[in-house]
Amino acid sequence: MTENSEAPAEPPATVDVALGNRSYTIHIGHRVMEQAGTLVRPLLKRPFCVIVTDANLAELHLSSLQAALAGSGIKSAAAIVPPGETSKSYARLADLCEELLAAGVERSDLVLAFGGGVIGDLAGFAAAILRRGVAYAQIPTTLLAQVDSSVGGKTGINSALGKNLIGAIHQPRAVIADLALLRTLPPRELRAGYAEVVKYGLLGDAGFFAWLEQHGRAVLACDPQSLKHAVATSCRAKAAIVAADETETGQRALLNLGHTFGHALEAATGYGDRLIHGEAVAIGSSMAFRLSERLGRCPPGTAARVTAHLTALGLPTNLAGIRPLLPDAKGLLAIMRHDKKARAGELAFVLVRGIGEAYVETGIPEEAIIGFLAEELAMQ
Ligand SMILES: NC(=O)c1ccc[n+]([C@@H]2O[C@H](COP(=O)([O-])OP(=O)(O)OC[C@H]3O[C@@H](n4cnc5c(N)ncnc54)[C@H](O)[C@@H]3O)[C@@H](O)[C@H]2O)c1
Repeated sequence: MTENSEAPAEPPATVDVALGNRSYTIHIGHRVMEQAGTLVRPLLKRPFCVIVTDANLAELHLSSLQAALAGSGIKSAAAIVPPGETSKSYARLADLCEELLAAGVERSDLVLAFGGGVIGDLAGFAAAILRRGVAYAQIPTTLLAQVDSSVGGKTGINSALGKNLIGAIHQPRAVIADLALLRTLPPRELRAGYAEVVKYGLLGDAGFFAWLEQHGRAVLACDPQSLKHAVATSCRAKAAIVAADETETGQRALLNLGHTFGHALEAATGYGDRLIHGEAVAIGSSMAFRLSERLGRCPPGTAARVTAHLTALGLPTNLAGIRPLLPDAKGLLAIMRHDKKARAGELAFVLVRGIGEAYVETGIPEEAIIGFLAEELAMQ
């Protein structure tokens, strides 16, 4: 039993990610982790798996997961890494691979990634390269991981030259998103993950954005029904995009709404506590709407509607809070050029024609971007 045992158990929602013989199902529900053994057992050749998790999750929820697996006769070992982005490193990857081998992971075994996006990216990449590829499943424990990083198969670690520059696309065999786990997530992390939920409305589903305007507070209060609807709708949106464009040659790039600016802000602020990923995405999304308005791509007032919602839910929407940490407009543009999303040296922006109508635009003159960034930096 977890400490969330007061929450009503109800049937999970499922979302299928259709990728031919690499298809898998996302199971979303309160306390769905209690069914982990039943859900994972069909994926195993023998009743054994290794869980990769971080020290925070190990303390809070690892015993519940291991009990759920044991209930289906599955023995499990655990590899525990330190929490935080710094674990997405060569050194940690090497240690983890050695630990998985020492734990006896064979080619036909399954690795369970149990944690936020850091654990999913690290464990998924280790699985991709261990013995030339072993299967893995995701049990995401942050809102960001449940709606974004656990779905779609992008795995990897960071390089000294930038985030996520070393990695592989390796699809999980299943995703188990237990909404009850989010109750122990620090509120700031929950809000940051909410920025990715809003992103799905902003990029392709105006109706979902309107729903979030009504129910966003309930989502952040972990109201079971609202949270389930928000996570399932987000996963459905991501699954459809990934199924259509697994390797990001086309529409998967829309998922980067807010990320071209966001990644630059994270880099400029040192990937630290001053600005966490989802907060950078909230600012970046707001900037993408303001740039779209400035270029005449979307009607005036659209950006204000977006920022009003993000602000109401406690997310930052402009550079005011991090201004002292940032370079000038030219400096910011230089950082943006380093992003791996830049193609042939040309910056691609995800812009909008309105809420729910994102598209990719290249060829925006540099002076226009510098002018825009200077205005953003001056904003109070
Ligand atoms: N692969 C992808 O497609 C993709 C997409 C988006 C982001 N990412 C990556 O995801 C990472 C960020 O992931 P994140 O925001 O989940 O951060 P995270 O994994 O660092 O988790 C945030 C913090 O919350 C703690 N935590 C996690 N679950 C908890 C729970 N249920 N209760 C209490 N504490 C809990 C963790 O220990 C950690 O301290 C970044 O490295 C980013 O690059 C990957």
